[in-house]
Amino acid sequence: MFSFICGTLTLNLTLALFALVCCPGSGEKAFTVHVRPKKLTVKPKGSLEVNCSTTCNQPEMGGLETPLNKTVLAEQTQWKHYLISDISEDTVFHCHFTCSGEQVSVSFNVSVYQPPTQVILTLQPTWVAVGKSFTIECRVPAVEPLDSLTLFLFRGNETLHSQTFGKGAPALQEATATFNSTAHREDRHRNFSCLAVLDLLSRGGDIFHKHSEPRMLKIYEPVPDNQMVIIATVVSVLLFLFVTSVLLCFVFSQHWRQRRTGTYRVRAAWRRLPQAFWA
Ligand SMILES: *[C@@H]1O[C@H](CO)[C@@H](O)[C@H](O)[C@H]1NC(C)=O
Ligand SMILES: *[C@@H]1O[C@H](CO)[C@@H](O)[C@H](O)[C@H]1NC(C)=O
Ligand SMILES: *[C@@H]1O[C@H](CO)[C@@H](O)[C@H](O)[C@H]1NC(C)=O
Ligand SMILES: *[C@@H]1O[C@H](CO)[C@@H](O)[C@H](O)[C@H]1NC(C)=O
Ligand SMILES: *[C@@H]1O[C@H](CO)[C@@H](O)[C@H](O)[C@H]1NC(C)=O
Ligand SMILES: *[C@@H]1O[C@H](CO)[C@@H](O)[C@H](O)[C@H]1NC(C)=O
Repeated sequence: MFSFICGTLTLNLTLALFALVCCPGSGEKAFTVHVRPKKLTVKPKGSLEVNCSTTCNQPEMGGLETPLNKTVLAEQTQWKHYLISDISEDTVFHCHFTCSGEQVSVSFNVSVYQPPTQVILTLQPTWVAVGKSFTIECRVPAVEPLDSLTLFLFRGNETLHSQTFGKGAPALQEATATFNSTAHREDRHRNFSCLAVLDLLSRGGDIFHKHSEPRMLKIYEPVPDNQMVIIATVVSVLLFLFVTSVLLCFVFSQHWRQRRTGTYRVRAAWRRLPQAFWA
């Protein structure tokens, strides 16, 4: 009984799977269009090659739509290989083929990029007292696209800050990251640096890394102003107490001696008194 139910269940599942694999939704195009590569990156004013192809055996028409300069490098009935030149901004291109009066078109994106070539790190100020704050600034001119860029600020091998950017204005291809930090005593032995990473993997490109020159801070011990005031006050109060006590001691001892000698004089006079009478 159990094995019978199991068998039916398996059969039903197999049938369902078979239906899914063999009979996709109707109304599908009888042919497809492909473009290789699907995503491309190019430097400003650069050129690149693309291949538009179709599964249609005898396409009536086919090609690449673009207002830019294009050259057919090679072609056969089912494909066309193009060179597109002078690409200066991000562009969407379309490959299309017409088969039995039906047109199919696919698009592909080309991203214009400039890898970071200059990474400029500045520390402001360069002379800092321990515990005081300073500003680290990293500037990368002529880099795009900004939304694929990350700037990392390092103290030695420790990441202090990382910054990403939104889509920048097309004319402004400069990125800046700033971070305020506090100077440590050990910082005099550490290098500060900045790393720019342009990650174009999702756009069909590579990853570019560029490090700044390392920079060092000049660290000095702070003048402990309020600490100094406290110490000075305590020392002067102690000095005052000491001087006062020495003075008081002196005054009292003088006074005591005077009183003692004063008593002696009185006694001597007292002793002398009967002599004065009897004389
Ligand atoms: C263009 O693509 C088609 C289909 O993938 C391929 O047969 C053909 O060799 C490619 N042409 C060039 C020049 O790469
Ligand atoms: C295409 O290239 C030719 C010569 O290479 C040039 O004369 C023409 O102006 C270019 N056209 C465009 C739209 O860039
Ligand atoms: C092209 O880029 C647009 C946004 O810029 C995106 O929506 C689209 O999916 C991309 N197409 C391809 C084929 O990557
Ligand atoms: C940084 O370098 C020090 C020694 O130079 C090491 O002990 C420490 O683990 C490193 N930290 C990281 C995050 O790599
Ligand atoms: C860093 O400090 C300066 C001056 O103290 C201040 O003007 C600036 O806004 C601070 N920047 C950040 C990113 O906190
Ligand atoms: C800091 O950078 C300089 C120059 O690259 C290098 O000579 C020095 O060894 C570095 N110091 C430390 C502590 O990493």
